[in-house]
Amino acid sequence: MNGSLVEWKDANIHIASHVIHYGSGVFEGARCYNTPRGSACFRLDTHMKRLFDSARIYRMEPTFDQATFTEAVLETIRANGQKACYIRPIVYRGYNALGVNPFPCPVDSAILTWEWGAYLGKEALEQGVDVRISSWSRSAPNTLPTLAKTSANYANSQLIKMEAITEGYSEGIALDTFGYLSEGSGQNLFVVREDVVYTPPLTASILPGITRNSVITIARDLGFKVREEMLPRELLYICDEAFFAGTAVEITPIRSVDKIPIDKGARGPITTAIQQAFFDIINGEVPDRHNWLTFVYPGEPLQTVGSGTAKTATRV
Ligand SMILES: Cc1ncc(COP(=O)(O)O)c(C=O)c1O
Repeated sequence: MNGSLVEWKDANIHIASHVIHYGSGVFEGARCYNTPRGSACFRLDTHMKRLFDSARIYRMEPTFDQATFTEAVLETIRANGQKACYIRPIVYRGYNALGVNPFPCPVDSAILTWEWGAYLGKEALEQGVDVRISSWSRSAPNTLPTLAKTSANYANSQLIKMEAITEGYSEGIALDTFGYLSEGSGQNLFVVREDVVYTPPLTASILPGITRNSVITIARDLGFKVREEMLPRELLYICDEAFFAGTAVEITPIRSVDKIPIDKGARGPITTAIQQAFFDIINGEVPDRHNWLTFVYPGEPLQTVGSGTAKTATRV
C-alpha cells in the first residue's frame, strides 16, 4: 500500500475515504500463471498501461510511475511466495474530504495478490455456461466511460450479475443503450458464425479487454477472420459458437442464451482451437512469440519444455 508491504489483516483504509462513497478508484485484474518455465504474469505491461489510461481519464496522478508500479506487482508476488495468483492493483481517492469533488483527496495505491482458480468453475471451461440477456444495459456513451476500468462501472456489473444468478444463470450479457450486444458483467463476448469470429467494437460500451485483444491476435494467427462490429442480440440465437473472454473467466464457452442452446449446446471447434492456443501460451507450453509473459522470479524462465523450441534469456 502506497509503497510499503503490509500484512493482509492490516491492509485497511479509513471509512471516510472518497473511494468508498463515490467509487473513485481505477483498478486492474491480471493473472500470474505457474508455467513449466517458471511463474509468469500474462500481459502485465498492457494491464499497467490500461491502469494508467484509466487514471488519466479520471484526472488521477498516481504517485508512482508505470515502471515502478509494474516492479511493485512482481515484488508483491515474490513477497507472498506465490507461484500462481490473481493480481489486483488499485489507484484510488483516499481520505481527506467527503465532498463529491475528488481533488482534495490523495491518490493512494495498493496491490493485492491472491490465489484464485477458475472464476465460473472448472467445468465451465469445458462444458460452457448458460447465460441470459440482461435487462440492464451497459452505460450510455458519455455517461460512465467504459474505456476506464473504474470501480464505479462495477455497480452496473453487479446489477447484471445479481439478476443472472437470481434467475439461475451463470452470467448476463448486457446490450448497449442502442440495443446492440455489448459484454458480460466482467468479460468480453465473442460470437462465431460460418467460420468468422465476431466481437463488439469499443464503441459498444465495452471494456477494452486484454484477453479480448489476445483472442483477436490468436484467432488471426490461427487463420480465422475476425470482425469487430456492432452485433444484434438475435445473432446469439443463430450463431454456431459463442464464448466469453476475460482475465477471470479466461476463455469460457457459452452453451445457451435465454434458454436457447447455441448450436448443439456444447463447446464448438473454433472456441476449442482458440482456447487451446490461449492455454498453451499462458501455460508456457509454446514459445512466447508475442512477448506476453513477464517472469516473476530470478533464474526464471527456465530453459526447456514442450517442443524445446522456446528460446529465452535467463533472468538474473
Ligand atoms: C466489464 C469487463 N469487461 C471485460 C473484461 C475483460 O477484460 P480483461 O480481458 O482485460 O480482463 C473485464 C475484466 O476485467 C471486465 O470487468
